[in-house]
Amino acid sequence: MGFLLGLDIGTSGVKALLVKEAGEVAGSVTVEYPLYSPRPGWTEQNPEDMWKASVEAIRGVLSEYSVKGDQVLGVGLSGQMHSSVFLDESCDVIRPAILWNDVRTSAQCQFIRDSVDPELLFQEVCNPVLEGFTLPKLLWLRDNEPHNFEKVRWLILPKDYVRFRLTGNIHMEVSDAAGMLMMNVRSQTWSKAVLESLDLSDEILPPIIQSSQVAGTITGEVADLTGLKEGTPVVGGGADNACGAVGSGVVKPGRGFVSLGTSGVVLAHLEQPKLITTGTIHMFNSCVPQEFYMMGVMLSAGLSLSWFRERIGRKFDSYDALTADAAESSPGSRGLVFLPYLTGERTPHGDANARGSFVGLSAAHTQGDLVRAVLEGVAFALRDSVELLRSAGWNGTGLRALGGGAKSLLWKEIIASVTGLAIEELNIDEGPAFGAAILAGVGANVYGSVPEASDSIVKVIDAVEPNPEWEKVYGDMYEVYRGLYPALKGSFDQLVTFQ
Ligand code: XUL
Repeated sequence: MGFLLGLDIGTSGVKALLVKEAGEVAGSVTVEYPLYSPRPGWTEQNPEDMWKASVEAIRGVLSEYSVKGDQVLGVGLSGQMHSSVFLDESCDVIRPAILWNDVRTSAQCQFIRDSVDPELLFQEVCNPVLEGFTLPKLLWLRDNEPHNFEKVRWLILPKDYVRFRLTGNIHMEVSDAAGMLMMNVRSQTWSKAVLESLDLSDEILPPIIQSSQVAGTITGEVADLTGLKEGTPVVGGGADNACGAVGSGVVKPGRGFVSLGTSGVVLAHLEQPKLITTGTIHMFNSCVPQEFYMMGVMLSAGLSLSWFRERIGRKFDSYDALTADAAESSPGSRGLVFLPYLTGERTPHGDANARGSFVGLSAAHTQGDLVRAVLEGVAFALRDSVELLRSAGWNGTGLRALGGGAKSLLWKEIIASVTGLAIEELNIDEGPAFGAAILAGVGANVYGSVPEASDSIVKVIDAVEPNPEWEKVYGDMYEVYRGLYPALKGSFDQLVTFQ
């Protein structure tokens, strides 16, 4: 029997997932790696850690599920978006990667806005200028570490780096290239006009390939390291959100997902590109060839809950215990609101200075109220994205649930009741790694096309519907939530100067 291997290079670690040819999950192994935060607002990881963890995860999954290298028909990759991997002439890593949730680049974002004609910029890259994207990171390197900037021969993203180590070939894959702010999303070519306005060359940007296109094959050295067979095809893969869409069947208009990982994402598939100017909605290339998606991204969804557990709720030995405590509270957390802007915010505010807050605390509040307020605050932030996608024309009635946070029934009930949407459960709950495996299957000619395979394998099997009583409370509470960011913005701007 043949297998497909999907590798997801995430923020907390690498997941290696084996999928049987027929689309059934065989099993997965996850290997974690550290995230460094040398200063407030900075997040970095070592690409070498990503590579070592990938090798260990591949070896681990093959051995745990007794799959031989020659049974693996293809490898696909998915990865955290926007995070910059800088390589020198010898393809060695120059410095740690600057991650998608790093917000050190506000000055560079302003420089881009001042240097490039706004209409040209938007027509070319089709997206707002935001700290997390890759172009500001390259400019930050030029401004702050010129000795490193001079050495840059290639600028790529995490999964492209792992693909390079697997195959020896350097490419950028289109759905991830879209998030660099250097590619014309509609023509899928590097934007010379934008790069020239910033005095940058496109020579450091590798050729763009498609998600299910074979980019190379496993080298002999990697075969020895991992147990894969030399010559196994490796496809372009996709950005984690684009792969999440493929892995959850979000490959048709009207379909969408909500993902509760470190970040929180609400994504809707688009057949045609759409330029959206409101609320920092992103519009990128889908892994379905020549199609697109739009999404709202909040930076701290799962991160808000993990922050709470690590820093405040240490007595809880599991997330289940934490959310069970929240269930003891009531909708609205007895008058407590949490703003989840722990690492600044992208959608809807596009504000690196925004910060988290509990508003309405009283001496009567319990730890359960605080946890519930965190779950609800994330749900309100997701509703901001839902509203923006609706105003951009999305008319879905449900969202497919992805990510670790989606394992919590309570969180899904809260999100359903806050957004008024059915939160759908799937027969396959493997997220981006599953999408990456499907892409590998298309590249290896196991499947005919990405949308066909995704649509026929992934099915909605259940849904958590909004609770009418909670909906009423949350409708009123959302209005309070919406008023808090504008009221606090001035204070956030002042407070960051003390950090
Ligand atoms: C999307 C984004 C995050 C990362 C998480 O724009 O920055 O969702 O892709 O890995």
